Amino acid sequence: MKGVILAGGLGTRLYPLTYATNKHLLPIYDEPMIYYPIRTLVRAGIREAMIVVSGPHSGQFISILKNGKELGLNHLEYGYQDNPTGGLADGLKVAEDFAEGKPITFILGDNVTDADISKSVTSFTTGSVMFLKKVPDPERFGVPVFDKNHPKKLVGIVEKPVHPPSQYASVGLYLFDHRCFSVARKLKLSKRGQLEITDVQNYYIRDGSMKWEELKGYWHDVGTFDSLLAANVYWAKEKGLKV
Ligand code: DAU
Repeated sequence: MKGVILAGGLGTRLYPLTYATNKHLLPIYDEPMIYYPIRTLVRAGIREAMIVVSGPHSGQFISILKNGKELGLNHLEYGYQDNPTGGLADGLKVAEDFAEGKPITFILGDNVTDADISKSVTSFTTGSVMFLKKVPDPERFGVPVFDKNHPKKLVGIVEKPVHPPSQYASVGLYLFDHRCFSVARKLKLSKRGQLEITDVQNYYIRDGSMKWEELKGYWHDVGTFDSLLAANVYWAKEKGLKV
């Protein structure tokens, strides 16, 4: 399967760190943040990827990633999202030609995990898979809604709900068949002015072709100073630093 990494946006929550570079090029201990989601794809057996960049520091990615071979990719393409804050589904649309009508693994450039999703990727055929993780603060994420009578049956997903319908966060890691692109093309802007990935997921849930799995292992979405620090401490310890 091919992989798509979304690594644009403006990283405004990390100003002044992101005045001079893109959030995904900031360090997580000894490596740039963007290495981690690329490694997640490579661990899953993915060798062809597109990175979708946007915003004022887009050109810096190529100096760091080059052709992707140092990270284990055979082929790395660059895509450009015109509007850096158009939304995750807007960024996804950039990869439509690259996907060539086949399924893709889509990962957000600020999602840092040690999970091994190779089995899910290898066995994927059609529909979509979402990965869930129990968190103390689900209101910061896309949150799945389960059927009251069948607690494992998904009935929807809501983006950043004030009153979360479950304790789970939707991880920024998705398996989609080719329909995700036509769904994304037809989406309308949400109240916050973005094309939401949760609206793409809701299409598959309504269609009855969405599966979910609990993500095993460590996972962090790195968008704030606190989560950046926490991810740095975790990986520094993991890589042997005594902190
Ligand atoms: O991390 C998981 C969460 O990611 C999901 O639970 C949510 O459903 C999903 O909407 C997303 O929420 P975030 O608030 O974390 O999204 P954020 O705006 O931080 O963007 C995620 C990444 O995508 C980040 O690395 C920047 C990049 N991005 C974002 C936007 C809005 C783009 O490349 N282009 C964009 O237009």
